[in-house]
Amino acid sequence: MRTLYSNIKQILQTESDLEDKKIVKGAEMKSVSTLEDAWLLTEDGLILDFGQMKDLNTDHHADHYEDLTGRLLLPAWCDSHTHLVFAHSREQEFVDRILGMTYEEIARRGGGILNSAEKMKTMDEETLYQQSMVRLEEAKKTGTGALEIKSGYGLELEGELKMLRVIRRLKENSGIPVKASFLAAHTYPLAYRENHEAYIQEIIEKMLPRVVGEGLADYMDVFCERGFFSPDETDRLLEAGAKYGLKAKIHANQLYNSGGVQVGVKHHAVSVDHLETMDDEEVNCLLGSNTIPTLLPGAAFFLAMHYQPARKLIDAGLPVALASDYNPGSCPSSNMNFIISLACTQMKMTPEEALNACTINGAAAMELQDEMGSIKRGKRASFIITKPIPNLAYIPYAFGSNLIERMIDV
Ligand code: NIG
Ligand code: FE
Repeated sequence: MRTLYSNIKQILQTESDLEDKKIVKGAEMKSVSTLEDAWLLTEDGLILDFGQMKDLNTDHHADHYEDLTGRLLLPAWCDSHTHLVFAHSREQEFVDRILGMTYEEIARRGGGILNSAEKMKTMDEETLYQQSMVRLEEAKKTGTGALEIKSGYGLELEGELKMLRVIRRLKENSGIPVKASFLAAHTYPLAYRENHEAYIQEIIEKMLPRVVGEGLADYMDVFCERGFFSPDETDRLLEAGAKYGLKAKIHANQLYNSGGVQVGVKHHAVSVDHLETMDDEEVNCLLGSNTIPTLLPGAAFFLAMHYQPARKLIDAGLPVALASDYNPGSCPSSNMNFIISLACTQMKMTPEEALNACTINGAAAMELQDEMGSIKRGKRASFIITKPIPNLAYIPYAFGSNLIERMIDV
């Protein structure tokens, strides 16, 4: 089926046939190629052609016509870091933090990730799937067109498999690209608090072979952090993942300069994510690599921590991706429009930089850059149609307003 969208106020993030934009770095992140007063033609799920209204060939036939007067059209958000599959929300911990406890204190008393793992034990796969699909549909409504989802609330074989099977069903049935990361190394279960080695062996010898055997994961993730998994432990876990063909995508430097960036780069990680604390050494380490720094300002906002140093990274010439980190503890929202507002207001990214970070760079952080992330002939017809708004900057400016009319994925 062919659909012709006409009178589009602006198409943002266009890419010509001659370009091959895999990722946008440093100063290049400030520009977004834009077509004014435009049309776009899709056919059977792909972008067939686009151009300016003045050049529209009147005999372009389509099965379906849509007039988008006053609206912007841009690639759907690519959210490359989420924990969307979880059993229950954790608003009591949110209240405890308001009353003075820290995220780390809550984790030490057995809350946080362990709290989610307790709740995961009693939830059956079907219920987990149904409620995760509701969350995914909500993310689509705010413009998300592809996302990565992690396990990591099972913390034992059956629980991890349950989560990953749910992610597989979301891949099959959500209609959008979904990637799965295996994150058994999210925290130590209580039973292993005094015996870290045994849990690492459990992951490497028992869980990994089953997870890979069932084809359930695209990536290997580890929460590399003081009090969680050390750089040496992360190194061993990533090494084991690599033996099974899983590339790395890890949590690093959320709370401390934990050595996670260096170990991620050593393993050619697709991305290192969080990065609230970054020194020059880590910036230099990333400069010599293809690893994508992925910033999660929603977690910094919700935990009232300092924001990631986006300017330092971009000004050093690095690419930056932005993601939601959607999870019940540190960011209970999948709304990428709010993430963009935070990036602009708190991290001083320009709206154009934020757009690049949530589209082509987010796609690259899931290795989807050949099908997603820009408006290009032959790419997936996955895009956002905004409500009538003046321009791109209006999206982060009018924070909290829902400016997404539709996310199209045909
Ligand atoms: O990315 N930092 C580790 N993992 C998640 C939070 C998980 C949770 O609190 O449930 C994050 O912020
Ligand atoms: Fe996370």
